[in-house]
Amino acid sequence: MTVQKVMVVGAGQMGSGIAQVFAQSGFQVILNDIKQEFVERGLGVITKNLTRQVEKARMTEADKSAILARIVASTSLEDAKDIDLVIEAAVENMEVKTKIFSQLDQLAPEHAVLASNTSSLPITEIAAATKRPEQVIGMHFMNPVPVMKLVEIIRGLATTDEVYQTIEDITKKLQKVPVAVNDFPGFVSNRVLMPMINEAIYTLYEGVATKEAIDEVMKLGMNHPMGPLTLADFIGLDTCLYIMETLHEGFGDDKYRPCPLLRKYVKAGWLGKKTGRGFYTYES
Ligand code: CAA
Repeated sequence: MTVQKVMVVGAGQMGSGIAQVFAQSGFQVILNDIKQEFVERGLGVITKNLTRQVEKARMTEADKSAILARIVASTSLEDAKDIDLVIEAAVENMEVKTKIFSQLDQLAPEHAVLASNTSSLPITEIAAATKRPEQVIGMHFMNPVPVMKLVEIIRGLATTDEVYQTIEDITKKLQKVPVAVNDFPGFVSNRVLMPMINEAIYTLYEGVATKEAIDEVMKLGMNHPMGPLTLADFIGLDTCLYIMETLHEGFGDDKYRPCPLLRKYVKAGWLGKKTGRGFYTYES
């Protein structure tokens, strides 16, 4: 199947990054969100990233303009009427996602593949909200999308080999590395990463060490580019909590119990970098 026109639903941190890498690889992209201001904010982030590439002489001003010209703003899912592929990157909430997929199923052409960038929710359940579960798949990018090489590709129960192959080929066109994963809570990335972050939060909660010390141990001792608490702030503490809850509920195993300190921070609205405060504080 040939994919030329792509719609990205959700223009936040992940959606804007996904739109950027598709446009950089020559695809026509519709960047959709519920409000014009959200789309504009996403386009602003893309423009800033591309400007940095021009400043570093990795791209010309003409390349930047051509990439931006390939991205069209949208606030209506009806713009999915002539696309070949959708990547949904809306909030991590099953109700929101199933609503979007059910609408897209009615609006997108019959041949279109519907992919979700969900970080932990079951692809099979999202697919069940459509009449084309065989054309629904997980395409999980890592943050920051323009930098990170991995794309986890998750097959739902009904996903066909042809659809899997299409997504694997596209991932390579984006200069990223596809890794095949089956549909279990948290897939591989967050099943391994989130309990590590949660344990780091327990370590802080129990007073084993300061936040700086915990991060330093993992950075210098394990060669992680960021300490786990800095990384949690970067991902968003609400997202971390949501993923831990998905693991806890999905496996019914208390080893995935979210740390009470994580819950407390989320209740306080300390969601990490995006709100200016999490384990650390950030300038706006
Ligand atoms: N968007 C675009 N480019 C970015 C960026 C962003 N948000 N942040 C950094 N970069 C680029 C910089 O421009 C820089 O590019 P050049 O080398 O070409 O100049 C490069 O990345 C390195 O940046 P810095 O020198 O500023 O900082 P750094 O060396 O510390 O790297 C980092 C930053 C790449 C984010 C690095 O700290 C890192 O790899 N951190 C871990 C990230 C990670 O674990 N991501 C996965 C999160 S989990 C996830 O996404 C899954 C999920 O479902 C929750």
